[in-house]
Amino acid sequence: MSNPVELRNTVKIYDLGGGVKINALRGIDLTIKKGESVSIMGPSGCGKTTLLNMIGGLDHPTDGQVIVDGIDITHMSEKKLAQIRREKIGFIFQFFNLVPMLSALENVQLPMIFAGKLSDVEIKDKAVELLRLVGLEQRMYHRPTQMSGGEQQRVAIARALANEPSIILADEPTGNVDRETGWKILRLIQNLNEILEQTYVIITHDPHIAKTSEKIFYMVDGQIYEAPPRSATTPSSHVLAEERRQLMLAELRWLKTSLVSLEKRKAKLNPESYAQVKMGYAKQLERLKEMIQEDHGKRRSI
Ligand SMILES: Nc1ncnc2c1ncn2[C@@H]1O[C@H](COP(=O)(O)OP(=O)(O)OP(=O)(O)O)[C@@H](O)[C@H]1O
Ligand SMILES: [Mg+2]
Repeated sequence: MSNPVELRNTVKIYDLGGGVKINALRGIDLTIKKGESVSIMGPSGCGKTTLLNMIGGLDHPTDGQVIVDGIDITHMSEKKLAQIRREKIGFIFQFFNLVPMLSALENVQLPMIFAGKLSDVEIKDKAVELLRLVGLEQRMYHRPTQMSGGEQQRVAIARALANEPSIILADEPTGNVDRETGWKILRLIQNLNEILEQTYVIITHDPHIAKTSEKIFYMVDGQIYEAPPRSATTPSSHVLAEERRQLMLAELRWLKTSLVSLEKRKAKLNPESYAQVKMGYAKQLERLKEMIQEDHGKRRSI
């Protein structure tokens, strides 16, 4: 199975003209495995955003290779890159990038409309489910300006999840919210990472936040280093357990919506891709069941 992210000796030089060149990435080798959550830290200007832009196919490297989900995107055309981004990657930026004239619901619907795979009704159902997943069902019809920073950030997360991307890239996702909201967002990301088996790459300046991910990489002047692995994990309190439970329930509802929509589309799909998608959902369901049972067992033994 291919890794979601593989960078091989990736170099990025910004040429500012007049002989001025900036070596933003100086030959990065980086492998991120499926389902891993990874934090990237480092001083301002060390190349973190540039690295994320490479992984997300937002920019081309000057040298080396960028491989996403086994596909070499190094020299891909903008049109093909846009397709890869749509299908595989969810972006969460520091400045949310929500469309100001649209409601939370419409903002989350947007990427699904662009993908053109679901009917209008299915898109709305799924957007509602996603907003429920991030705890914003009461704010669906609010525009970004009518929401707090943390709420907007959670809309951005729901939007990033809309097309069920296998890779989520977050550039300082808690940079603009207070500490408590930041933690809530982080816990949401952590739980989703576990429940949906998505791969997360998170840039952060906050070491406490970085410690919540499985691996921490440090960047210095365009180069990357891995931190030693963590030994202890934080025990989860009742509040954390309840948050997890709510997320798993939301995910179950979401899976149900996806299954109903798949059945509706069955006639239009070729049997092979129908079977493949259905098997994917069945696996996800099995995994969720196991996690629910595991958590249930833990609660009983307290
Ligand atoms: N489009 C660009 N053109 C020219 N130089 C750029 C461009 N984008 C970034 N740089 C330069 O490349 C280097 C790395 O920038 P990058 O944005 O990746 O840093 P960063 O680690 O994300 O910093 P911060 O923590 O401040 O966001 C910096 O020296 C920056 O000035
Ligand atoms: Mg940056």
